[in-house]
Amino acid sequence: MKKILVTGGCGFIGSNFIRLLLEERDYEIVNLDALTYAGNLENLHDMKDDPRYRFVKGRIEDEKTVLPLMDEVDAVVNFAAESHVDRSIHSAMPFLTTNCLGTQNLLDCFRRAGRGKVFLHVSTDEVYGSLGKDDPPFKETDKLRPNSPYSASKAASDLLCRAAWKTFKVPVVITRCSNNYGPFQFPEKLIPLMIINALSGRRLPVYGDGKNIRDWIYVEDHCRGVLCALEKGKPGFIYNFGGECELTNLEVIEKILEILKKDRDLIEFVKDRPGHDRRYAMDITLVKKELSWKPETDFEKGISRTVSWYMENRTWWQRIISGEYKDYYKKHYDKAL
Ligand code: NAD
Ligand code: TYD
Repeated sequence: MKKILVTGGCGFIGSNFIRLLLEERDYEIVNLDALTYAGNLENLHDMKDDPRYRFVKGRIEDEKTVLPLMDEVDAVVNFAAESHVDRSIHSAMPFLTTNCLGTQNLLDCFRRAGRGKVFLHVSTDEVYGSLGKDDPPFKETDKLRPNSPYSASKAASDLLCRAAWKTFKVPVVITRCSNNYGPFQFPEKLIPLMIINALSGRRLPVYGDGKNIRDWIYVEDHCRGVLCALEKGKPGFIYNFGGECELTNLEVIEKILEILKKDRDLIEFVKDRPGHDRRYAMDITLVKKELSWKPETDFEKGISRTVSWYMENRTWWQRIISGEYKDYYKKHYDKAL
């Protein structure tokens, strides 16, 4: 494997993945990204002059853009997606266009080019639905029971990948991961939103009773997992990744407030998200055994690093909340005290 097409490389996880690849491997990388509201060229500013790296602006559902790229590369890692549950509740169609049609177009072009060795599709624990408090964590063999338009579109894209493997033997590997956090996460997701709102003296909107549980993983651990699956995964297999770190949203927020030495009074309980999944947790037995992977960064360390990153990179997020993202941010999150 010499050259890899990474899609969605200007987003949160994709940019961390490309940085890891350039630092630790010798692959050439083509980054195909549409630069939606969530894609930011600044995320890879420090890598832009690396001769092994090339950026192409374009959409994964556009055959004319994708097909010629497939003629150059030996593998695909598909991060490109519409990724936020709340947005999918407001408007589902962009999720179907990118997550479903886009993934199918990548699969078709990969197959037509006929030279790729691995098609790695990055997916999520949310495709499995929601757990009750005493249920065992999700396993790769569990049924798909997605509850939001986002997770339904991701489950659909996973099934399109499965169909490409079963029907055409496209060498598809699917990874499913729990909630990521770390540098460069767009401040609409829980952790960065709470950090920047606390830093700028705004209220912290907590949906429902704040006791929904997520399994948190530091983004670098997820990226290492994707790299293991790319290099060692078996075609047709699904690999679950998670941080073995179940926390309620309130526990996460209280930790952030503690690090920032801010008052708990900033918390404001707001109307719950419709269809809000109660609990996610991943069983990662398979990847520990087959890929010799385990999460390395505990929450204490990961969240301190993340808070420090947002404190040291104010210009990055201030540009986002005062630029294109301003109206959406104002409408949903900018509640003055
Ligand atoms: P993100 O929203 O930060 O980034 C998505 C990137 O995809 C952006 O750069 C955007 O410009 C690009 N993009 C969107 N539509 C595109 C299109 N049609 N063509 C080309 N590029 C397009 O997302 P993220 O949090 O980095 O997530 C990356 C992937 O990982 C997604 O597939 C997501 O479902 C999955 N995932 C995310 C998490 C998480 O906690 N964030 C957890 C598990 C899995
Ligand atoms: P989010 O970061 O949107 O990820 P996901 O919904 O994909 O898990 O949300 C994480 C959790 O935080 C989820 O239970 C919803 C909750 N949440 C809030 O309570 N307030 C907020 O402002 C946001 C964005 C999320």
